[in-house]
Amino acid sequence: MEKLKFMLHYAILAPSSHNTQPWVFKVIDNVIELYADRTRALLMVDPDDRALIISCGAALYHLQLAMHHFGYADRVELFPESENKDLIAKITAIDRSSKADEQSTDEHSSLFYAITKRRTNRSPFEQRKVSDDLLSALRMIAKEHSAWLEIVVDDNERKNKIADLISQGDRIQLSDKRFRRELAAWIHPNRSKSRDGMPGYAHGMTSDIASQLGPFLIRTFDIGKGQAAKDKELATGSPILAILGTDEDNPLDRIHAGQAIAKILLRARVDDVWASFMNQPIEVSDLRPKLLEALGRNNKTGFPQLLVRMGYSNDVKPTPRRQVSEVTTIT
Ligand SMILES: Cc1cc2nc3c(=O)[nH]c(=O)nc-3n(C[C@H](O)[C@H](O)[C@H](O)COP(=O)(O)O)c2cc1C
Repeated sequence: MEKLKFMLHYAILAPSSHNTQPWVFKVIDNVIELYADRTRALLMVDPDDRALIISCGAALYHLQLAMHHFGYADRVELFPESENKDLIAKITAIDRSSKADEQSTDEHSSLFYAITKRRTNRSPFEQRKVSDDLLSALRMIAKEHSAWLEIVVDDNERKNKIADLISQGDRIQLSDKRFRRELAAWIHPNRSKSRDGMPGYAHGMTSDIASQLGPFLIRTFDIGKGQAAKDKELATGSPILAILGTDEDNPLDRIHAGQAIAKILLRARVDDVWASFMNQPIEVSDLRPKLLEALGRNNKTGFPQLLVRMGYSNDVKPTPRRQVSEVTTIT
């Protein structure tokens, strides 16, 4: 049980919307139960807990990877109790010596070591191209998790259309006082002791004073126009825009999307590639079908779940996490 608890140190490094870390773990003998913590829901940006469940899926993938790395095979049951929608997964750790076909591979170990090198990097990216091999690997990862990944590289017309949708999303979201209040509540001054939410530096507020003023400015003023212009430039200037989607939009699809994005972000880091999210056209429900259309798909061909831009850049500081003991019960 101590070993399983140790592995949770890697699960909690997963990305989550606004760094809410909306998960709770229960360790029972050789089983870990992963629960969604809906008290951490973001009512304005994520009213039906879609991103919350995706975040839990990302934590699940990190945990599976850690289990493999430390010599266990995992048996995962998703939503094992139909009447309990908060119980996302039951993960049983199995001694691998009894399962010769589940040996840890070099691929597992490079992904595992990428866990501590991954963070959301919101800086502008270099123009340097990302290799076709990496792009194929990322598409394959999506497929392994019953999802799809549309990657826009050189098609500037399509990139501009998507960037326009991102900036429209900014304007719509930031014109709503309640959206701004929620966002500001999860952005903390750089010196804050808070172990959740996003320190100002993660959003480019590098000085202490900027990070103290930032949440106040976001809460008080409609900064949508400025943010829209900034995000449009970031999106069109990134070598890659990638949209992860699923064929349906059920809780199970969201878990798969979470596992897929976690692996995609780690695989990208193995090749030194960074990513940051620009989910505005998915979060604003009127824009979601328009994003599909910009990809040449229609609503019979799937549901976009996450939009990321990718490329090379300098390292950024990690964001904090709550301690494993705060999110775990052992019985
Ligand atoms: C489902 C999901 C949605 C996210 N949406 C956004 C987003 O729209 N904009 C953004 O800047 N970051 C977004 N993020 C990134 C989180 O803010 C980030 O993961 C969190 O602050 C923790 O920081 P880290 O990724 O550097 O560890 C999202 C992450 C997840 C998993």
